[in-house]
Amino acid sequence: MKKVTVGLCGLGTVGSGVFNVMARNAALVNARAGCEINIVHVGARRDRADCPTGSVPVSRDIFAVVEDPQVDIVVELIGGTDTARDLVLKAIANGKHVVTANKALIAHHGAEIFAAAADKQVAVAYEAAVAGGIPIIKALRDGLVANRIEWVAGIINGTTNFILTEMRDKGSAFADVLKEAQRLGYAEADPTFDVEGIDAAHKLVILASIAFGMPLEIKKIYTEGITKITLEYIRYAEELGYRIKHLGIARESADGVELRVNPTLVPDDSLIAKVDGAKNAVMVMGDAVGPTVYSGAGAGSEPTASAVIADIVDVARAISHDKSKYDHHLPVPYMGFVPSAIRSREILPIDSIHSAYYLRVVVADKPGVMSEVTQALSKAGVSIEAIIQKEPQRGETQVSIVLVTNVVRESVINSVIADIEQKDFVAAPVVRLRVETLGT
Ligand code: HSE
Repeated sequence: MKKVTVGLCGLGTVGSGVFNVMARNAALVNARAGCEINIVHVGARRDRADCPTGSVPVSRDIFAVVEDPQVDIVVELIGGTDTARDLVLKAIANGKHVVTANKALIAHHGAEIFAAAADKQVAVAYEAAVAGGIPIIKALRDGLVANRIEWVAGIINGTTNFILTEMRDKGSAFADVLKEAQRLGYAEADPTFDVEGIDAAHKLVILASIAFGMPLEIKKIYTEGITKITLEYIRYAEELGYRIKHLGIARESADGVELRVNPTLVPDDSLIAKVDGAKNAVMVMGDAVGPTVYSGAGAGSEPTASAVIADIVDVARAISHDKSKYDHHLPVPYMGFVPSAIRSREILPIDSIHSAYYLRVVVADKPGVMSEVTQALSKAGVSIEAIIQKEPQRGETQVSIVLVTNVVRESVINSVIADIEQKDFVAAPVVRLRVETLGT
């Protein structure tokens, strides 16, 4: 059997998972890869009791791994974007293939890294960067290669899905559930990355680049977090037959590409509505295959290691089978690891997207109010799909009108809201959330 060598940089949650799963399943993985894969060098600032590295040398300076001439594939699992970028570019410059789980690195520096990799004809593989253990990048790149992708939408952050699920199931407040997510280790070190949608934006830009063959344009993504979602939002959505999920959505239309992360109402009988807790799920609509769904663990030590090892095997298969022919470098487009046929696309400003909308209008409880609200909508050509008005509780002088519209341009719904908010019977800013049916 040919041998392929791996240098592992980072022995944190994911790195230790890779080391342990590789050790546990070595025979199985090697048989499937058709070559013998060995971790020959580890770079880690400290040792871990739950990950004995045995006779494998461990360097405290991770750059020693990328300088090691016996390493074929460098696995970057240190996180962050500065040192990780230097490390990956150095590995590529040294002619090594790279596997990384680092979504922020790919989202921000992917173009530079892929260009360097193409120049050196080495692979950069990053399955674990999106949705942890779910092989969504391979699904888009390989399994769905025949399709024109219409849209990709998914729950791509486990922390926010856990928070929304717990709020709904246990009636707990956002802040309390966030603390619980941090205790369970779901949240990023800085929870802002999760709850404000930044982590999901990193993942979505990567998915869009593969789905639509477009550049990684992280700065153009519209990102809205879940911090404004209260129990009241969740209960009202339920009454209309919806659940609130924090979705990343990339959709291509004749006008351009929508790229957004935002809390979204989805029908409660849709598959994605049933993906609860810290789980992730991604739906892809292909023109030939129709809607497909991929679900599983989006984070965690061994689920993420599963994706990292899949990439190691992909690269190992390619370089071991063609080593003699290509001196262990393959033309990168042939290997298909990096997005190819890139062409820039117009990314739509958020007020140009089309969506259905959920509105909650708190109004004075008096005759004629409901009809003024519905007239404001119909005047703008917006149709109402469902509407409820809550009975006022004893002593209350205000009521909520909650409705879902048909699909309209966002700028249209914004001007209707501005119109409604001018009315003297409106007691508070109108709550507006986007609604997606996702092929259901
Ligand atoms: N904090 C991330 C999540 C981990 O909650 O999904 C993986 O990116």
